[in-house]
Amino acid sequence: MLILKNITKTFPGTKALDDVCLSFQNGEIHALLGENGAGKSTLINIICGIYPNYEGTVILDDKVLKLRSYQDALETGISIVNQEIQTIPDSTVAENIMLDKLERFQKWGRLNWKELNNKALEYIKMVHLDLEPGVKVGPLSTAQKQLIQIAKALASETPVLLLDEPTSALTEHETATLFTLLRELREKGKNLIFVSHKLDEIFALCDKVSVIRDGRWIGTDKIQNLDREGIIKMMIGRETSDEYLGVLEPDRDTVVLEVKDLFLKNKVNHTSFQLKKGEILGFYGLVGSGRTELAKVLIGEDRYQSGEVFVNGEKVIIRSMSEALKKYGIGYVSENRKEEGLILDFSVETNIGLTIWDKIRGKISRKISRTKEDKIVLPLIDRLKIKIASPQQEVSSLSGGNQQKVSIGKWLAADCDILIVDEPTIGVDIGAKEYIHDLIWDLAKNKGKSIILISSDLPEMLKLSRRIMVFQNQNIMGTLDDLTGEPKNNDEVSLKIGGLMI
Ligand SMILES: Nc1ncnc2c1ncn2[C@@H]1O[C@H](COP(=O)(O)OP(=O)(O)OP(=O)(O)O)[C@@H](O)[C@H]1O
Ligand SMILES: [Mg+2]
Repeated sequence: MLILKNITKTFPGTKALDDVCLSFQNGEIHALLGENGAGKSTLINIICGIYPNYEGTVILDDKVLKLRSYQDALETGISIVNQEIQTIPDSTVAENIMLDKLERFQKWGRLNWKELNNKALEYIKMVHLDLEPGVKVGPLSTAQKQLIQIAKALASETPVLLLDEPTSALTEHETATLFTLLRELREKGKNLIFVSHKLDEIFALCDKVSVIRDGRWIGTDKIQNLDREGIIKMMIGRETSDEYLGVLEPDRDTVVLEVKDLFLKNKVNHTSFQLKKGEILGFYGLVGSGRTELAKVLIGEDRYQSGEVFVNGEKVIIRSMSEALKKYGIGYVSENRKEEGLILDFSVETNIGLTIWDKIRGKISRKISRTKEDKIVLPLIDRLKIKIASPQQEVSSLSGGNQQKVSIGKWLAADCDILIVDEPTIGVDIGAKEYIHDLIWDLAKNKGKSIILISSDLPEMLKLSRRIMVFQNQNIMGTLDDLTGEPKNNDEVSLKIGGLMI
């Protein structure tokens, strides 16, 4: 059993945890829930030695732990799947998996590579990754990297396993495979702590739920005694209203973006579509189905081999993301914020302000007007409820979900005419998710902006999009038009989408 007694952790300007007491039993999967910035990752990082300084006591099997590093934690029997993907790009899959356990393969000062690769392969297979141990990690997809991190933690074979949002980049199928594995570990008596913002996952997997809010423990209960609404209320202190957003009336005669027979080998397969002014066009499909690939071609990150792109009726060739934004008013909220969306060692204010600097620069002095920047950036921080000690705080010290909010805020500030939002609510909490939906809706409905919404969250897609293109294997399997968005039709539309994907 793992016991936390009166844990308090303070960062400059923030009390991330305040007198938290919790216990985690062997043979159980215990969910740790809370809004972005509630303190979940901080707690997990304390348990596994990453944050050695805190007040309070951590006790494992009657012994008080004094861990100074993650290596200490591994030796004590605790391993973690980190919220952020931290694979080493220039190393192989096997090296990444065995990185913290290399000494096991050492004999007379030399590494036995064959043994290392063979052992790694067991875990590669366990998470159903179809990769050779000797492949370099760099070019792999985010989902594959996440599975490598999971394999790395599994390979530690520790009695305690901490999983901080392990499924954020995984497809439903990959998640199901992981859950089968985790259930097997539970049967073997392991102690599993699981963090996720996806409540369906909590109900499918976990035995117990603990909620923290603003660093304080709110409650713990068995999953049988809880329902969705109850959990949400514990997390955010109020109920959510997943209401019907109403009718969207795009300007059907104005095509802002048109794509004709676009082709890029293995990425975009002869795709054509039109985006109307004021519409929210959904790109629905599983991760890897070709939606992000198409978006990247549209914003000039990748070059297409044939086909045509028109912006406001004019044929264009977009060469870079900055050209997409400055010349054509097209913005892209990346699904992969850590690698593409943010400059981590810059402040929150700078990251959000970046896209508007050209607009607020003095005409002669070329200096950026701080007052003008504050006027745009500060209300966004407020509206998105980004949890920070000050706008000058470095983005790297924000909780994962709050980083995601910064990356969305940045594009909202940019005031683009066409905004491509890629998985906008992955990793954000339920309250913020609702708010981001309202913002996207408001841009289209009231400001005449045109949105492409890429999401694998079907309820999100049904709520916001009135036209949905369904992607699979780089192909568009079909388009559903004139959707009303009324919740009573959701089952019918889901079935149609399912039909297109068979
Ligand atoms: N290194 C740090 N320096 C300063 N503040 C920090 C640091 N790490 C975390 N914090 C702050 O501590 C609080 C808790 O963050 P934590 O990462 O534990 O949240 P979380 O519950 O994991 O949220 P999320 O769901 O977004 O991942 C946040 O307000 C965050 O900004
Ligand atoms: Mg976190």
